[in-house]
Amino acid sequence: MEEIVSLAKRRGFVFQSSEIYGGINGFWDFGPMGVALRKNIKDFWWKRMVELRDDMVGVDTSIIAHPQTWKASGHVDCFSDPMVDCKKCKGRFRADHIKDTPCPEKPSKKVGECGGELTEARAFNLMFQTFVGANQDNASIAYLRPETCQSIFTQFKNVLTTSRQKIPFGIAQIGKSFRNEITPRNFIFRSREFEQMEMEFFIRPTKEEGQKWYEYWKAERLQWFYDLGIKKEKLRMREHEKDELAHYAQGCVDVEYEFPMGFSELEGIANRSNYDLSQHIKFSKKDLSVFDDETKEKYVPGVVECSLGVDRTFLTLLCDAFAKDTADGEERIVLRFAPHMAPVKAAIFPLSKKLEEPARKLEHALRKKMTTDYDDSGSIGKRYRRHDEIGTPFCVTYDFQSEEDKQVTIRERDTMKQERIAMDQVERYLEKRIIK
Ligand code: GAP
Repeated sequence: MEEIVSLAKRRGFVFQSSEIYGGINGFWDFGPMGVALRKNIKDFWWKRMVELRDDMVGVDTSIIAHPQTWKASGHVDCFSDPMVDCKKCKGRFRADHIKDTPCPEKPSKKVGECGGELTEARAFNLMFQTFVGANQDNASIAYLRPETCQSIFTQFKNVLTTSRQKIPFGIAQIGKSFRNEITPRNFIFRSREFEQMEMEFFIRPTKEEGQKWYEYWKAERLQWFYDLGIKKEKLRMREHEKDELAHYAQGCVDVEYEFPMGFSELEGIANRSNYDLSQHIKFSKKDLSVFDDETKEKYVPGVVECSLGVDRTFLTLLCDAFAKDTADGEERIVLRFAPHMAPVKAAIFPLSKKLEEPARKLEHALRKKMTTDYDDSGSIGKRYRRHDEIGTPFCVTYDFQSEEDKQVTIRERDTMKQERIAMDQVERYLEKRIIK
C-alpha cells in the first residue's frame, strides 16, 4: 500500500487535503491524473447503468435534505459506531477496531495495551451536522448526507410521473456523501468525504420479483467489474449471513476486492423489500404507492439497491493495475489499467523540439477523440517511464523519418512493442484498442 500511496502522490493522482497545514484526517484531494481517472470510472458506470438501458433514469439531488429524511431512514437514531475513549491519551477509537489499531503514543502496541484505561463503548453518530439559516439552534440542525440514495426515495414519485417509466425501473445517482468515521484509514478506502454511485431498482414487492431482480443485479454488477478490467481472481461475492441482515432485508451481498490489507467491501447489493418507501410514507404522510393499470392494484414498490464508492473503485484500479517489471535492464513501475480507464490514452512525443509543430498538430487532431498528452521533456526513455507510471497505454513518437514516410512509432505500454503506423491510420489504430 505504501508504494501505491507514494506513486499516487508522485504522479498527481491523490494528495492529502490541505497538506500545507498538516493535512486533515479522512479527507483527500485529487490531482490532474486523479480527476481524469475518477471521471472515467463515473462515466463508465453512468453509461452502463443509465445511458445504455431503457429502464433507468438519473437524478442529481442536493447534499442537504430536510432533516426528517434522516429520521425516516433511521440515520438519526441508528447510524452509529461503538466508540471508546482512552483516558490517558484522550484518543477516540472504534470499539470493534481496537485489536488492530496502533496506540497513537506507543505505535508498537495496540490501543488499550499501553496501560491507558478505556471507557465503556458508546454509540457515536456518524452524520456531520450543520445549521441552515441564521440561527444555530436545534430547529435549524441539518445533516450532510451520509448516502445519496435517500433522496432517490423521496423523489421517487416525481421521477415516476415525469419520466414515463413503469415498474420495474431504476433511478441512479452519483454524488458526494459524508460520514464522520471514527477511524478513517487505508488511504482513500475509508474517508470522511467520499463519492457514491447508487442505484435503486423499483419492483413489484413480491418475494419472487425480489429474488429475480436481486440475482439479475448481482450478475450485472460483477460483469461491470470484469469490464472495468479488474482481475477476476481478486474479486469475490460475500453473501451476508441471516444475522447480519437488517430485519426488512431479503438478501444482501458485498462485492469484495483483495486489497493489500485483505478482502474488503467494494459494493453492496441488497434486496431491501419496500422498507425505504414505506418509511418515507409514514414520516411524510405522502402517498408514494403506485397503481398498476393492468391488475388494478395499488402497492408500495420493493427495491433492489446497488451501492458503490467511486473512491474504493479508484483504489481498486490503482491496486489492481500496479505492477513492477524490467525495461532496458532497469526496474520499472507501471499501472496496467485497461486502456479505456487510463487517464491519458495516448502521449505524443516529438523526438526533438524541432519537430514540435507537426507533433502538436497530430496531438491536436487526436485529442478530439481521446485524452492525450504532449510531452517533449527529457529523453524518450524518461518519457516512457513517466507515462508507464500513470498507465498511458500508447506512446506515439514523431521523428525525423516521419517527415519523409508520414509514419510514426507507436509503443504499447505492457509489451513495450513498437510499430510503425501511417499517420492517417493512427486515430483508427488507437480507437480500436481503447474503446470498450
Ligand atoms: N445506501 C447504502 C449504503 O450507503 P454502505 O455499504 O454504507 O451502503 C455503500 O455504502 C458503498 O459506499 C460502500 O460499499 C463503499 O464502496 C462506499 N463507502 C461507504 N463508506 C465509505 C467511506 N467511509 N469511505 C469511502 N467509501 C465508502
